[in-house]
Amino acid sequence: MSDRDPPNAAPQGDSTKAPGCPHAANPRPEGYDGDGVPRRYDPATEGARMGFEGRMSYGDYLHLDPILSAQHPLSTAHDEMLFIIQHQTSELWMKLALHELAAARTAIAEDRLRAAFKVLTRVSRIFEQLNSAWDVLRTMTPSEYQQFRPSLAESSGFQSYQYRLIEYMVGNRNVALLKPHAHRPDLLKALEAELERPSLYDVVQALAARRGLPIPADILTRDHRLAWTADARVEAAWSAAYRDPESHWELYELAEKLVDFEDYFRRWRFNHVTTVERIIGFKRGTGGTGGVHYLRKMLDTELFPELWRLRTGL
Ligand code: HEM
Repeated sequence: MSDRDPPNAAPQGDSTKAPGCPHAANPRPEGYDGDGVPRRYDPATEGARMGFEGRMSYGDYLHLDPILSAQHPLSTAHDEMLFIIQHQTSELWMKLALHELAAARTAIAEDRLRAAFKVLTRVSRIFEQLNSAWDVLRTMTPSEYQQFRPSLAESSGFQSYQYRLIEYMVGNRNVALLKPHAHRPDLLKALEAELERPSLYDVVQALAARRGLPIPADILTRDHRLAWTADARVEAAWSAAYRDPESHWELYELAEKLVDFEDYFRRWRFNHVTTVERIIGFKRGTGGTGGVHYLRKMLDTELFPELWRLRTGL
């Protein structure tokens, strides 16, 4: 043991004389040195790699340097770090949700429903995770938020491009909400490109028609850039699947996956508006809307209206 080793470091050298060795003169219990102090565990003894010169490390693979150096509070308020990290982590989870929703849409269009079920379940779990995250933000009081609110200026989650992309992807398509992205042609282009594709709900209707549900032709050929409006004929078609699940099992299971996702999404909106009221009351938002009034209006959003409405008639 060198001078620089901590007092409880494992002795180096002849391993047959190491404490705990049954051949040692006075066998000692495994993992303890001569004074009975627990010996420092060294994972290198089990083959853990400890040197990364010229090799890809954990931080390299995950690009942790740019991620962990992207938090720049603009005030000296302690809680601004929480606020920034809460938003950044939400955006990361949204990125994954978009990745999975795109995969679900492709799988449904290709009649690969088992693959679609798997990723849709994952999307619900992502939103469940985002819902739990509000509990962390709720530890911030109105007084604490007020200390750094001026730093945000007019920035707001209202301008979250990924959030809007999720809404557009699943079918909630309000083109008026493209405007806050006009200053970023790259983002605007991605949002507009999304509007050119059939939404998740559109591909679900096409699948239902292929599987024999009487989805009207005008629904299947509708301009998918437009917001979806609830249609009694579509509701009636899906009611048939719910009345006889055995005959339409995959459609029935898909519909429940969508309802599950919307259920978690609704909870996200509710948690958001409740947290906002708790923190800023009825002040206007930094994005310029009526704040809680705007967010309460958003609670009425229906992503898959027919799948909810048909329940009343069953
Ligand atoms: C102190 C915490 C928060 C407050 C006070 C707050 C406040 C608001 C307000 C007032 C709006 C309405 C738009 C406006 O006028 O600004 C809004 C929208 C929004 N916020 Fe937050 N927010 C908070 C946290 C978060 C977090 C953590 C996220 C996660 C990404 C988030 C995402 C969004 C999104 C996506 C919208 C747009 C909703 C829509 O258009 O339907 N917010 N927020």
